[in-house]
Amino acid sequence: MEFFLDTANIEEIKQGIKHFPIRGITCNPTIIKKEGKIDFFNHFKEIRKIIGKQRSLHIQTVSQNCDGMISDAKAILKNIDQDIYIKIPVTAQGLEAIQILKREGLNITATAVYTKMQGYLALEAGIDYLALYLNRMENLNICSKSVISGFADKISKYQYKTKILAASFKNIAQINEAFDAGAQSITAPLSLLCDVFKVPSINQAVDVFNNDWASLYENKKGIEDL
Ligand code: G3P
Repeated sequence: MEFFLDTANIEEIKQGIKHFPIRGITCNPTIIKKEGKIDFFNHFKEIRKIIGKQRSLHIQTVSQNCDGMISDAKAILKNIDQDIYIKIPVTAQGLEAIQILKREGLNITATAVYTKMQGYLALEAGIDYLALYLNRMENLNICSKSVISGFADKISKYQYKTKILAASFKNIAQINEAFDAGAQSITAPLSLLCDVFKVPSINQAVDVFNNDWASLYENKKGIEDL
């Protein structure tokens, strides 16, 4: 299982990679807007410095047509680095751009995927990651489990190398469902990942351990103090 942070916030990324086993960073123009009008290329160069080469960085194109998407992709690679995963929305223009850029050997994450056929076409176009919008699907009465398991089934049946990257979560239950349905990866904001530790029993258990230790060894905070 792979965990990504869905953010362009520098502090969130620093905190997130410190505490969680994070494979990479994903973002889109709406996420970038939360940071204000950033110095685009320098901001992502800084993110790369923080996350290193061992984690992947997924940045979305913004142009509406195929030629523009290709130019966006080239500008991202030239001005940030060559290892970026280019995120492209799966529209007709997007599919055209994906096929051209895959032929050039680029890393591609297909995004804004809501339906099976949209994703099947992206799979056949050779994408590396398939970003599915779980909560948004559920808001539209699309069964996200069925969409994810449909993709997991086709990836396995036809041996595509693509990984399912489930996104757009509003709670931890949706993340669990995504993994159960066959997603290999999920991306979420740090605040949502931190909710995992909000189960009161976790802290209660740790408090009991701490109290029992303190009652035995009074002023010895740790084992190294013995
Ligand atoms: O990665 C896609 C994700 O950011 C969409 O999330 O919350 O806007 O549905 P949301």
